[in-house]
Amino acid sequence: MDPVKTAIIYYSATGTVHALARAAAEGAEKAGAEVRLRRIAETAPPEAIAANPAWGRHLEDAADVAEAALDDLDWADVVLFGTPTRFGNPASQLRAFIDTSGPLWFQGRLSDKVYTAFTASNTAHGGQESTILALANTFYHWGGIVVPPGYTDPVQFKSGNPYGASHVAGDGPPGEVALEAVRYQARRAVDTAAALKIGRAA
Ligand SMILES: Cc1cc2nc3c(=O)[nH]c(=O)nc-3n(C[C@H](O)[C@H](O)[C@H](O)COP(=O)(O)O)c2cc1C
Repeated sequence: MDPVKTAIIYYSATGTVHALARAAAEGAEKAGAEVRLRRIAETAPPEAIAANPAWGRHLEDAADVAEAALDDLDWADVVLFGTPTRFGNPASQLRAFIDTSGPLWFQGRLSDKVYTAFTASNTAHGGQESTILALANTFYHWGGIVVPPGYTDPVQFKSGNPYGASHVAGDGPPGEVALEAVRYQARRAVDTAAALKIGRAA
């Protein structure tokens, strides 16, 4: 069987979701997937970025990561989306990318793929679940197969978010539990897609 094609498409302003996305790529690779790690292009005005030194620094640090394109969605068997919480919702940069997917959707090219999402917020009850659920609305419209982590692995009882891996950025950068949770989420998504691929080929 061909490896499961996995796109990890994320937006990150100050690096938290970027760290989660890198761990997701590790988890997917370990599960045997072919991985594309792709960042959503920054569209915020330069003056907004300049007002937050961590934002500008991360933009430079992540310059080597290729920008997401619609072809990455078309290519993938599995898509993991990562986004910070913005008032309980996904970042507008990611939404703007998703909102260019109409032609692919219209041709039925986004259906039957595995989708899952991860996030970060500044505070513990700052909207992680609502952000992931908001993204899932789109997965339903695409006819996707939504694969949440649930409590299907011991790490989930430590990380504590069955909707998708998430991290409280106000506590500092993601530690080993958060990174392991997103690695696990990626592995589970890839394993599910592999089972579907085998079943469809039979
Ligand atoms: C416009 C805006 C809205 C935000 N809304 C929330 C929020 O509702 N709850 C929260 O806990 N954090 C909120 N945050 C904080 C971000 O979620 C946090 O900085 C982010 O998760 C860090 O991820 P990053 O380092 O990948 O950018 C907000 C940040 C901005 C800039």
